[in-house]
Amino acid sequence: MNEEKLLEEFQAKIDRGEKIEPNDWMPDAYRKNLIRMMSQHAHSEIVGMLPEGNWITRAPNLRRKMILLAKIQDEAGHGLYLYSAAETLGATREEMLDALHDGRAKYSSIFNYPTLTWADMGMVGWLVDGAAMVNQVSLMGTSYGPYSRAMVRICKEEAFHNRQGYEIVATLCAGTEEQKAMAQEALNRWWFPALTMFGPKGADSVHSDQALKWQIKREDNESLRQKFINMTVPQAEARGLVIPDPNLKWNEDEKRYEYSELNWDEFFNVIKGNGPMNKERVKARKDAHDKGLWVRQAAEAYAEKRKSKVA
Ligand code: 3HC
Repeated sequence: MNEEKLLEEFQAKIDRGEKIEPNDWMPDAYRKNLIRMMSQHAHSEIVGMLPEGNWITRAPNLRRKMILLAKIQDEAGHGLYLYSAAETLGATREEMLDALHDGRAKYSSIFNYPTLTWADMGMVGWLVDGAAMVNQVSLMGTSYGPYSRAMVRICKEEAFHNRQGYEIVATLCAGTEEQKAMAQEALNRWWFPALTMFGPKGADSVHSDQALKWQIKREDNESLRQKFINMTVPQAEARGLVIPDPNLKWNEDEKRYEYSELNWDEFFNVIKGNGPMNKERVKARKDAHDKGLWVRQAAEAYAEKRKSKVA
């Protein structure tokens, strides 16, 4: 069958809502876009462990420390899950990690901001994982089978991440004046960067048209951002927090919150590698990878030995 016919069949399969599986024919551009998106998603999970890891030794009590440890371990699992799903497309772990370490691959912009107070742990769970959840619930419908199934599993844990973050915020808001002020100050720093997590809008979202046609993405960046805002503003108000956007206002006709234009110069600067924490994040990942070489060598030696025993 020629390429044109194969492409026709492929699109028809997607339009019928069927999943594309690893051994199915797929256009190179489909495979390439998914390897890019899935590996960057995995990088985001692994790098996302760093801002929270910064607070394990300083959690205010044992319960918070245990929850934070459990959450960070979840993120590691999400990363490994997504690397394995990306490997079904022919990418290798080494290639993906090399791309992260040498700056060719991205990870979510949001993890290039520092976590300065304990309230930031609340904002990461409530806002960052909340935004990730809006995006990942949509991605459960992605056309690529292994990615869709990974999302179903990850979303279950993401709900816990989001809830524990909101509980931290609610506890601070119900605490002393200083604690409430700490939560407001953290919200002032995290609100806009959390909104840019959904990616640029319009033509700047260079992958969206094709990704939507092939149902890699089910909704565009702006629709997901708006969904997140509509869901999160009432949660802030319920805690007596003020969203740091003077132009935020409910539009009854359109049933959505209007909000200020985002700072896209800052966004593109951060994803170019010039955010407050980019260098530290990539260095931490490279150091961890280098220090982990002996573990990988031991595992390979053990696997070799087992193979020769079985042979
Ligand atoms: N951070 C870094 N880069 C971003 C970005 C962000 N928030 N949003 C967009 N970009 C980059 C894209 O990667 C692309 O650059 P590239 O061609 O070099 O990869 C460029 O900006 C243009 O953006 P597009 O909108 O065209 O890119 P996508 O179609 O890939 O859409 C996305 C961006 C919505 C983030 C999409 O990639 C996506 O849905 N990815 C899967 C979900 C994901 O990665 N979430 C990250 C957070 S995970 C997380 O927070 C887990 C938490 O539990 C720790």
